Amino acid sequence: MKIKAAVMREVGGRLSIEELEIAPPKENEVLIKTTASGICHSDYSVLHGTLKSPLPAVLGHEGAGIVEEVGAGVTHVKPGDHVIVSLSPSCGKCEMCLEEREYLCMDMSKASSLATMMDGTTRLRNGDEEVRQLCAIASFAEKMVVPAGCAVKVRDDAPLESCCLIGCGVTTGTGAAVNTADIKAGNSVAVIGCGGVGLSILQGAVIKEANPIIAVDPVAEKRELALSLGATHAIDPFNEDLKGRIKEITGKGVHFSFEALGSMKTIHDAYSIVRPTGEAIIVGVPNLKEHYELPVHMLFAEKELRGSIYGSSRPQRDLPKFVDWYMDGKLKIDEMITHRIALENINDAFERMGRGEGARSVIMFD
Ligand SMILES: NC(=O)c1ccc[n+]([C@@H]2O[C@H](COP(=O)([O-])OP(=O)(O)OC[C@H]3O[C@@H](n4cnc5c(N)ncnc54)[C@H](O)[C@@H]3O)[C@@H](O)[C@H]2O)c1
Ligand SMILES: [Zn+2]
Ligand SMILES: [Zn+2]
Repeated sequence: MKIKAAVMREVGGRLSIEELEIAPPKENEVLIKTTASGICHSDYSVLHGTLKSPLPAVLGHEGAGIVEEVGAGVTHVKPGDHVIVSLSPSCGKCEMCLEEREYLCMDMSKASSLATMMDGTTRLRNGDEEVRQLCAIASFAEKMVVPAGCAVKVRDDAPLESCCLIGCGVTTGTGAAVNTADIKAGNSVAVIGCGGVGLSILQGAVIKEANPIIAVDPVAEKRELALSLGATHAIDPFNEDLKGRIKEITGKGVHFSFEALGSMKTIHDAYSIVRPTGEAIIVGVPNLKEHYELPVHMLFAEKELRGSIYGSSRPQRDLPKFVDWYMDGKLKIDEMITHRIALENINDAFERMGRGEGARSVIMFD
């Protein structure tokens, strides 16, 4: 079957729109007709070589759509079901899945490094050439074949063109605030970087009744969006003294800081602005070869530094829950979508992201 997809062929280049052949799903795989896909900064990081992937590859890992066909052994979804594609294959067998930590499923790391399906092969080709699938997903395409565990059934009345963000950004961000962190009502929170992920962290903090909630972003449009989504204060780190302003607002620093950009400078900022006994949670992903030199004296203020992957989420439990929260108006997703685009305009969306313009761009199929 032929489909249209955006293919990455070189680091730093432009994605090319190509007609690819997609193979039917094998055992424990699902074929999905893509309704919509968000563009996450992790795609940008792969495109610009900050995160590595074998090439050529179809990027995209924030997709939702309708099941078209299932391979042998798949019983939890059937053709016609509405699904959000989870980043975790949730194999159910590895040590992490058995501990109910599907966000660390060992099949996930395999899929991330190889950009193939679980058996090391891919379902996409251009003629004789094999085309990889980022995260075993490849949602910048009209159809996707994904590992069965990645297909999470959601209610039929939820609009997939908005709920696709729950595939990555919303779950990563909201989950970091409601799963990874143990925020108590009245705790102070700062979020550094207010793109799709940071704004979702902020909304998770609102749900946990944190106060104050401080948004940190150099782009005025993002700070305004953050304030409209529940931040109580906003700081421009390029023109204000970040640590000084945090002290002014909180006294000794925040209970929880979240880094949602992925730079060594902001990781250091995140750790610096937490109060003694506070926790800095790193959600942004820098080049994974980087090292962070920890200022040892801060350890003795019992400050913690930890990462958060995929919002410490259990996809089959959390994705449908976040859909319910969206449908109940508790989680705002449409407000974070600043552009809806056709696949052909994907390079413009990446350029906007590079300039820090807009929050989420969503590719609409059909
Ligand atoms: N841990 C995970 O599981 C996971 C999952 C998805 C994405 N991510 C990572 O989260 C990060 C954010 O992703 P996104 O899609 O929200 O990105 P984005 O590009 O939409 O947002 C980044 C934001 O950071 C702001 N920014 C730029 N410089 C800044 C600075 N010096 N201080 C504060 N803010 C600054 C930008 O204006 C922008 O609003 C990326 O590193 C991405 O790879 C992690
Ligand atoms: Zn992502
Ligand atoms: Zn597993």
